Amino acid sequence: MQFSLIIPAAGSGTRLGKDVPKPYLVIAGKSILAHTLNRFLKIDSLNQIIVVTSDDYLKETSNILKAEVGRLPFHVVKGGNERQESVQNALNVVSGESDLIAVHDAVRPFVSKTTIENCLNRASLRRNDGAIVAVPSRDTIKKIDLDSMISHTPKRDEMWLAQTPQIFKKKVLMEAYRFAALNGVAGTDDASLVERIGGVVEIVEGDIQNFKITYPLDLQLAEMILSKK
Ligand code: CTP
Ligand code: MG
Repeated sequence: MQFSLIIPAAGSGTRLGKDVPKPYLVIAGKSILAHTLNRFLKIDSLNQIIVVTSDDYLKETSNILKAEVGRLPFHVVKGGNERQESVQNALNVVSGESDLIAVHDAVRPFVSKTTIENCLNRASLRRNDGAIVAVPSRDTIKKIDLDSMISHTPKRDEMWLAQTPQIFKKKVLMEAYRFAALNGVAGTDDASLVERIGGVVEIVEGDIQNFKITYPLDLQLAEMILSKK
C-alpha cells in the first residue's frame, strides 16, 4: 500500500525555549527536519510528502525538501495554532493515489526503519483502521483532580506512551478529522480523533530512541547521538 507522509513542523518550541523552532535547529550539519525526512525516504511505499510549517519557514522548508527529496512529489503547507489544525491543513493536499496516511512529528529524527515498516504493515491489515507506535510507560501514571490530588492509579502495564508514526487508512483519518472539526473535538494525537469515531487502532511497540525533542535535555541527547555517527 502506498502512503502519504504528513510532517507537522509548525510549532514554536516553547518548552525547548530556543529562538529557532525545533525542526530548523541544525545538528551535525543538517536540520532536525532533514534528519527526520531521511528516515522515511528509505521506505519504498512512500509516494508523497507534506510538511506543515509556519509562515516564516515556508521558503526554508521548500529548500530543505528540494535538497533532501529526489523524485517524490512534495508540498509545503501553512500550519495552524494547534498541531491538530496543522495536520488538518495537510489533509487538504493528500494525493488520491495513497491508501494510507502516516503522520510523524518533525522532531522525532531517530525513528527506525523497522518501526516504520512494522507500523505500515499493521495499518495495512484489513481488520485495522490504523496503527500507532508506542512504548510501555516506564513510570507509574497518576490521574489527578484539579487540585492536584490523586484520584486513580492505573496499572502501569496497561499504560503506553504514544509516539509517531501514527498511520491510518486514508478514508478513516479524513473522516476522523472531519468529525473533529464539525464537533469541536480536540486531541493531542491523531489516534485519539480516530478512536472518537470508533476506529480500530493497533499499538505497535517502538523504542525509546524514537523520543520527541521537547526539552533542552532531549536536544543534548540528540546532539550526542548524531555526533557519534
Ligand atoms: N506542531 C505543528 N503545529 C502546531 C504545534 C506543533 O505542526 N501548531 C508540530 C511541531 O512542530 C512538532 C510536532 O507538532 O514537530 C510535535 O509538537 P511539539 O513537540 O509539542 O512541538 P511544539 O508545539 O513546537 O513545542 P511546544 O509544545 O514546547 O511549544
Ligand atoms: Mg506543542
